[in-house]
Amino acid sequence: MRILAVETSCDETGASVIEAEGVTLRLLSNVVATSLPLHSKTGGVIPEAAAREQLKYIIPVIKQALEESKSSQNNIDKLAVTVGPGLIGSLLVGVETVKAYAYAWKKPIIPVNHLFGHIYANFIEKRDIEFPAIALVVSGGHTDLVLMKGSKSLKWLGGTRDDAAGEALDKTGRLLGLPYPAGPKIEELAKKGKDIFKFPRPLMHSADYDFSFSGLKTAVFREVQKMDSAGRAPNLENISASVQTAIVDVLVTKTLKATKEFGAKSILLGGGVAANQTLRDKFELEIRSLKLKIPLLVPEKQLCTDNAAMIGAAATLIGKETSWDKIQANPELYFD
Ligand code: KG4
Ligand code: ZN
Repeated sequence: MRILAVETSCDETGASVIEAEGVTLRLLSNVVATSLPLHSKTGGVIPEAAAREQLKYIIPVIKQALEESKSSQNNIDKLAVTVGPGLIGSLLVGVETVKAYAYAWKKPIIPVNHLFGHIYANFIEKRDIEFPAIALVVSGGHTDLVLMKGSKSLKWLGGTRDDAAGEALDKTGRLLGLPYPAGPKIEELAKKGKDIFKFPRPLMHSADYDFSFSGLKTAVFREVQKMDSAGRAPNLENISASVQTAIVDVLVTKTLKATKEFGAKSILLGGGVAANQTLRDKFELEIRSLKLKIPLLVPEKQLCTDNAAMIGAAATLIGKETSWDKIQANPELYFD
């Protein structure tokens, strides 16, 4: 079965073709057009500007994904599209375009939750994931812990009460004058810095699986103010290392707490922040020191940040075909 998937929930425009044979997913093409240069000029995503860019990219990106995979109307069996959560204007670009293709090509559509996509990115070109598994979705918009009792069973355990982990990095970056999105730059600066500020680790030992990262930007703001009034330039390396370590500590601690409580046999990461090597290394270190002997699964970097391949994967493994006239963009969609 061959599936054409489209993703436009935030600032990227993605299209991908996936070939599914049972539970084996082969990636035939994965095209992402980024509007990041535009958003880095404005220090963040301006929804109206994002959607206008996506309108320009959507058809060329779909055509490229079809060409690269040597696919056409004749050998595509199904279409898939992200229906939420995300920015309404951006979602509409993908959803309405895919509906038009489905109508013209007479193919079924599978609507996909973007958050499920980040989890199922782990299933591309991979088999034999052992369950139960704990999945951590860490992106610019979300921080969620999910229990998977099997490949089709997702139970939300907890999530952020305010800012997402990536959002905390991006907001810190803005305070420090770094380009958007700040996650990769903070990771680079942190390599030369030390965790000297010991910023708070909110809810790290709470009994639930919730997170809270909004206090971090306030803590960074205070430090920057202190340095300003002392006439010193902020030490970007040390601030970056301190923010990154605080976030990594909380993410790893809470995920391993869930892993132990539910007897998980694997840990799955997904979302843009999962591209962070320090986060991956800390997980590996703690898994070894706790003698857990379970694998940490992380998608390749280009499958961590937003892409359509993950939408094709989620559609294939847990999606339900829906008639094009019943599909609507839903910015508020969550785990259900
Ligand atoms: O999954 P994603 O592409 O979009 C959302 O669904 O939000 O994630 C984007 C987020 C941004 O906050 C960005 O700063 C962060 O992922 N990010 C990183 C890294 N690469 C991207 N954060 C830390 N380290 C990275 N290497
Ligand atoms: Zn995402």
